[in-house]
Amino acid sequence: METWQLTDSSRFRLLVRDRVGSTNDTARQLAETGEAEGLVILAHQQTAGRGRRGAPWFSPPGESLAFSIIVRPTAPKHHWPRLALAAGVSVAKAIESFGLPAQIKWPNDVWIQGRKVAGILVETGPDFAIVGIGINVNSPALPAEVAAIATSMQIEAARSFSRPQVLAAVLDHFGEQQSQIGENFSALLATFREYCCITGKRVSLLVSGEAKTGLVTGISENGELVFLTDSGLEYIIQADEIRPL
Ligand code: BTN
Repeated sequence: METWQLTDSSRFRLLVRDRVGSTNDTARQLAETGEAEGLVILAHQQTAGRGRRGAPWFSPPGESLAFSIIVRPTAPKHHWPRLALAAGVSVAKAIESFGLPAQIKWPNDVWIQGRKVAGILVETGPDFAIVGIGINVNSPALPAEVAAIATSMQIEAARSFSRPQVLAAVLDHFGEQQSQIGENFSALLATFREYCCITGKRVSLLVSGEAKTGLVTGISENGELVFLTDSGLEYIIQADEIRPL
């Protein structure tokens, strides 16, 4: 039986719901009515979980973690997208602490051995941000249509994990990483670069609606993707400008 409780020393507070539409929406409603920074809304089941670009996000009850963190950053608003990098690093570090080799596919998919194990969806309001995180923890197998591109911690390790412990590990790291989106961004960036698995790789991307193939040469000082096309053009790409082909 899993116990969902954070330690007294945690800077986060946990609200567990059996079933919601999307934890990001529940978090947004609470933030809009004044809920303070640090509340984490975790749902055992999401009936309308969503991923980036409006894609559905399925989190099988009992197997996965689906939660959203209310953040009220003190950093200027143009730095808030960096929360996605902070969350990616936090999830990767947490997964690694359980002995699995996690990497980040820019901007914020977390991979194990080239397959996606976690996704992150950051949404903002006027004076708050919602950091939504979904992790495939104890799925023994995934549907055939995604098995080639997605995985779970259990599939990779051939054992199950305590979901409350995985949650606590992510939150421990996020507490530290989220403080680095402003003045200390160079520290977060350095960590992000260590985990980023597409630097030096050839990729095909849809850049502003146009298909391009080339080399990812790195992550810029602002956390953007630096992409050199085969025709020799360099693009500095923001997270929402591209689609993988
Ligand atoms: C992605 O990879 O496209 C992002 C997936 C984000 C899923 C999480 S699960 C908790 C939170 N609630 C949602 O509806 N989405 C995020």
